Amino acid sequence: MKILVDRKNRKYVVHDEEFHTEKGVIPKDVIINSQVGDVVETHLGKKYTVIEPNINDYIELMKRKCAILLPQDLGLVVGFTAIGSGSHIVESGTGAGSSLLFFANIVGPTGHVSSYEIREDFTKVIKENIAGTDFENITLYNQDVTEGFNEDDDSIDLVFLDLPKPDEVINDAYRILKTGGFIVIYSPYVEQFQIVNKMLNIVGFENIKIREGNVRELEIKNNKTRPNSRMAGHTGYLTFARKMKKTKKE
Ligand SMILES: C[S@@+](CC[C@H](N)C(=O)[O-])C[C@H]1O[C@@H](n2cnc3c(N)ncnc32)[C@H](O)[C@@H]1O
Repeated sequence: MKILVDRKNRKYVVHDEEFHTEKGVIPKDVIINSQVGDVVETHLGKKYTVIEPNINDYIELMKRKCAILLPQDLGLVVGFTAIGSGSHIVESGTGAGSSLLFFANIVGPTGHVSSYEIREDFTKVIKENIAGTDFENITLYNQDVTEGFNEDDDSIDLVFLDLPKPDEVINDAYRILKTGGFIVIYSPYVEQFQIVNKMLNIVGFENIKIREGNVRELEIKNNKTRPNSRMAGHTGYLTFARKMKKTKKE
């Protein structure tokens, strides 16, 4: 896949076909023969640089039918759980596939991510989004996750939940996690993480911590450098907890 970027840093996915813009057309053969780093031009002279998209570019441009998770929250999950090459992750709901693809990129070809999405129409979009990548380390289930995870006991490094009622799956998450593995739950509202916190304690999870991923960008200007006045607002709360004993609390 290729992306064209204009002078204002706007990005466009291009396929092997003619590319139409407000300021003219780039012919199909120019698109097909263009290489990363080339500058291509419409017949009216508008210029675009060809780049190879990274996972964040891809997620930003892919199709979606719901709110997706952003790198500032997903980066915290990676940082505090130390998942990486070869890790095994289970997540739900899949939504558009943002967290799914972000994790698939992190765990690489020796790792694996399974994801559960209840809605059939969303599953269709997610399949298209996965098909636009080269990942072969993903299993997608069009399944209600409250029916239980398909994974074996003590086999998973991270269970990540981003769905309205995560408390209903915390019990089965404990079963599939390795001892030492993490559960991380994204909640937009305080009331939601209060319920989650209660259930994590009941089930026997330990080291419970709640974190926020606020990012403050700075505007660099001559003698006027300061935080950007149009900062992104609240995203959500991330509750982290760890399975520290093989058997649950009695
Ligand atoms: C906010 S979206 C998830 C976004 C996703 N993490 C991303 O970054 O693209 C929440 C998703 O959970 C799904 N969902 C809700 N209840 C579910 C359940 N019981 N089992 C599986 N998926 C469920 C919804 O259909 C929706 O797609």
